Amino acid sequence: MRILLLGSGGREHAMAWKISQSPLCSELFIAPGNAGTALCGTNTELDIMNFNDVASFAKNKKIDMLVVGPEAPLVKGIADHFKNKADLRHIHFMGPEAAGARLEGSKAFAKTFMEKHDIPTAAYRSFTAKQLKEAIDFIEHGKPPFVIKADGLAAGKGVVITNSKKEAHTVLHSMLEERLFGEASSTVVVEEFLEGEELSVFVATDGQTYCMLPTAKDYKRVGENDTGPNTGGMGAVSPVPMADKNLMQLIGDRVVIPTINGLQSDGIPYCGFIFFGLMIVSGNPYVIEYNVRLGDPETEVIIPRLRSDLVKLMLDCCTGNLARHRAEISPQTAVTVMLCSGGYPGSYQKGYTVSIPEGSGNGQLFLAGVKQTDNRLITNGGRVVAVTALANNVKQAVSDAYTQAKRVDFDNMYYRKDIGKNI
Ligand code: AMP
Ligand code: GLY
Repeated sequence: MRILLLGSGGREHAMAWKISQSPLCSELFIAPGNAGTALCGTNTELDIMNFNDVASFAKNKKIDMLVVGPEAPLVKGIADHFKNKADLRHIHFMGPEAAGARLEGSKAFAKTFMEKHDIPTAAYRSFTAKQLKEAIDFIEHGKPPFVIKADGLAAGKGVVITNSKKEAHTVLHSMLEERLFGEASSTVVVEEFLEGEELSVFVATDGQTYCMLPTAKDYKRVGENDTGPNTGGMGAVSPVPMADKNLMQLIGDRVVIPTINGLQSDGIPYCGFIFFGLMIVSGNPYVIEYNVRLGDPETEVIIPRLRSDLVKLMLDCCTGNLARHRAEISPQTAVTVMLCSGGYPGSYQKGYTVSIPEGSGNGQLFLAGVKQTDNRLITNGGRVVAVTALANNVKQAVSDAYTQAKRVDFDNMYYRKDIGKNI
């Protein structure tokens, strides 16, 4: 099969690395890709939000399968674009149509969906710009901490948690009135603060049945001991020891199955991945967010643990054969450490030379914000390289990942030193 993968992060390098190993893949294109994906297939300069361009490319290159890494094109309807055109419909499309992508694209929609299908989540109210006064009254009479979320996509910056009523008011004003995130904050969700342990759960689904992928823990804050601002993720571990058989059974029964059944009963087709961002409160799972894609950097620990064929898994999703699919997962532990540009998630410099060690050692590097120019690798983003190690226990995987991390070098490199150490 000729496969086109959309995206340009460490997640896409990990996916491209795995896809290119599949006997089912004859040729892989990545748009726009990065210096890492270029090692696995052919990068192509496409604007992935321009669906006509993506479609022309797919037709020209006789693409058989299209896989979408990030959420933005899905929320904007790239899957609909392909499914609605007679000459594109034959392409196996891994990623939901806009109706399903609303699970991530609108937090208010996700909340209504969960309420309707009895899926445990934090209690909430949603408010539009016209209801600013009601939102402020709600905070005034509520108990801190306050969790305020922009309804739409806000590049990971749309959630504010604060103990201060004053700050909560300011946030409501800036989101609803000043449209801090444009249309994305024309509605906000204010929800109950849940105290517990976070866990990321992933499935591949054809909308009828699902295949459970490895669990992961993401380290979201920039600083050690979970301090400082939120980032896209500074590292990850898989599996998460807390996610034992009992907890996974509860998650299946209370969260995953009701979600898939809910999509079906609401007439929402869904072929793709679902990433459940969960909070485990006294042993009980609550959904804090849905994502309609794999996570980054979670993919960099999930994919190395997937022993079976990722392309076969996706093909089985697209062709309604998922019920018979058996994914084989390694019992080993994977740890990834994100090497970042100093300053991230605030402002940072790009263009520094990245030096990557010769020979792999016991680790796998997934490149994220790295660009190749004139035979030189240069930094091109906040999250630059994900260093993943796979070992028989978490301690060894942590040690191997940090040994590899020390061999990578670029100016102003920063990374957390405590990934996997508190698990
Ligand atoms: P989200 O973008 O929805 O994943 O939220 C970002 C982060 O905010 C999550 O990873 C949690 O750490 C935190 N968070 C979101 N919702 C809640 C909640 N209801 N209670 C506690 N923490 C939350
Ligand atoms: N690492 C969190 C995410 O991909 O949304």
